[in-house]
Amino acid sequence: METKYASFWLALMLVVLFPLMNFVDSKCILFNFGDSNSDTGGLTAGLGLYLGPPAGRTFFNRTTGRFCDGRLYIDFICEGLEINFLSHYLESSGPDFTDGVNFAVAGAATTTTAVPFPLSTQVLQFLHFKNKTRELRPQGRGSLIGEEEFRDAVYSFDIGQNDISIGFSNNLTYQQVVETFPDSISRIKNAVIKMGEERYGYTTRGHWDACHRHLP
Ligand SMILES: *[C@@H]1O[C@H](CO)[C@@H](O)[C@H](O)[C@H]1NC(C)=O
Ligand SMILES: *[C@@H]1O[C@H](CO)[C@@H](O)[C@H](O)[C@H]1NC(C)=O
Ligand SMILES: *[C@@H]1O[C@H](CO)[C@@H](O)[C@H](O)[C@H]1NC(C)=O
Repeated sequence: METKYASFWLALMLVVLFPLMNFVDSKCILFNFGDSNSDTGGLTAGLGLYLGPPAGRTFFNRTTGRFCDGRLYIDFICEGLEINFLSHYLESSGPDFTDGVNFAVAGAATTTTAVPFPLSTQVLQFLHFKNKTRELRPQGRGSLIGEEEFRDAVYSFDIGQNDISIGFSNNLTYQQVVETFPDSISRIKNAVIKMGEERYGYTTRGHWDACHRHLP
C-alpha cells in the first residue's frame, strides 16, 4: 500500500527533476505548475484570502500565501538555481516574473471538478502569459522573457495529491482511489507534452515515453 503511494509520488517528482539536470549550469527560467506543495501565493491572490500565522513565521516573518511556516521545496529549488523566488501568476501587486512564473494553486488537482485552477487551467494561464509577453516585449513591458528563454526554461509539475483526497472525500474505497491514478498521470502527461510542444514546436511524446519507462 505504501509502495504504491511511493511509486505515484516518485512518478510526479521525476517530472520535476528530469529537465533540471540539463539546465542547472545556466541562468534558469522556471515555470511551475501544481498544488499547495508549491503554491507561493496563488490561492490567496486568486480568491482574496488572508492566510495568517503560523504561515510564514519561520523564514519570511510575514504571511506570503504559502501553506507553510517557511519556505516550500520550490523556494529551495529557486535558491539552488540562484534565481528569485517565483511570484504567482495571479499576484497583481508587484509580482516579479523576471526569473519565471508560478502557476501552482493550493487545492488544485488534475481533475477539473470542484477545485479552482486545475492543471488544465494552469496550462492555459501559461499560454496566455506567453502570448501576452510576446505582445508586450517589443514595447519593453511585461516580464521581457525571451523566446529562447521560454524554450530553455524548466517546466516543473507537482500535482496529484488532491485527486487522491477528492476521491476519498467522495467516499471511494482505497482500491477505487488507486484505480484513478492512471487517469491523473495521463492528465499530467498531457500537460507535460503540451509544454514540450510549446518549447520545441513539435511533439515531445517520445521524451515522455523515455522518461516514463524509467519509472517504477
Ligand atoms: C526573519 O527574522 C529573523 C530573526 O529576526 C531574521 O534573522 C531573518 O533574516 C528574517 N527573515 C527575513 C526574510 O527577513
Ligand atoms: C495564443 O496565441 C495563439 C496565436 O498566436 C492563439 O492560437 C492561442 O489561442 C493563444 N492562447 C491563449 C491562451 O491566449
Ligand atoms: C460520504 O460518507 C459520509 C458518511 O457516510 C456522508 O456523510 C457523506 O455525505 C458522503 N459523501 C459523499 C460525497 O457521498
